[in-house]
Amino acid sequence: MSGGWANSAGAWIASMGERGDWGREHVLDPIMLGRASARRFERVLDVGCGEGRFCRMLKARDIPVVGIDPTEELLVQARRRDPSGDYQLAKAEALPFPDGCFDLIVSYLTLIDIADFRVAMNEMVRVLKPHGALLIANLSSFISCCPMGWIRDSRGRYLHYPVDRYLEEFSEWVEWSGIRIENWHRPLASYMRELLGRGLTLTFFDEPQPQSGDADRQERYRRAPWFIVMEWQR
Ligand SMILES: C[S@@+](CC[C@H](N)C(=O)[O-])C[C@H]1O[C@@H](n2cnc3c(N)ncnc32)[C@H](O)[C@@H]1O
Repeated sequence: MSGGWANSAGAWIASMGERGDWGREHVLDPIMLGRASARRFERVLDVGCGEGRFCRMLKARDIPVVGIDPTEELLVQARRRDPSGDYQLAKAEALPFPDGCFDLIVSYLTLIDIADFRVAMNEMVRVLKPHGALLIANLSSFISCCPMGWIRDSRGRYLHYPVDRYLEEFSEWVEWSGIRIENWHRPLASYMRELLGRGLTLTFFDEPQPQSGDADRQERYRRAPWFIVMEWQR
């Protein structure tokens, strides 16, 4: 199967629907929406907005948002679902905006997709206003270091989630439901070092638990730390 975001766009759009996948709907959306609504943001940038679901959620709460994404096939869908929305073709590593023009930047499960995250962080900090917030949801590094996933026994019971090569930075191709993309693993320390090194202050950190959803899946999401959410202030 050929891969990459352009080739995976159709399957990705189908898998998201309007409610998002399980982790977004039951774990991340409540906390991400809560943070984005906690104070009045004037202009928000969603970096790697995909087919625009989170932008639409922000707009529904009267939060003005611009979405950027390098995958045209996803932007076509974003514009179709939200014709009055502002969706622009761009990579996080080269944001087409002047310095200091957003007071909230959202990276919703995109750091694992960005090849040069250090350049992307330079750019996100550059376009952030002083005192503005950078809100990041990412796959936990305990999970991204092992794309093979859960080890199960012969009866299909979930035994454990192996952690390997944790302290390295590397990419792996991952495949599910017709989607085939390259994900980058970095240890949490790599992200923290780079964010601290740009003079940002950590104002919020969580390893969020499921808020709803079927009991089996909730239990599994509590056994291995699937996501982290952090907010940094410039
Ligand atoms: C896992 S999806 C997340 C999409 C959306 N934020 C969401 O949560 O549904 C990752 C997104 O990152 C985008 N992406 C890949 N490389 C990128 C880059 N260099 N800069 C910005 N976005 C990128 C992909 O096109 C894709 O839309």
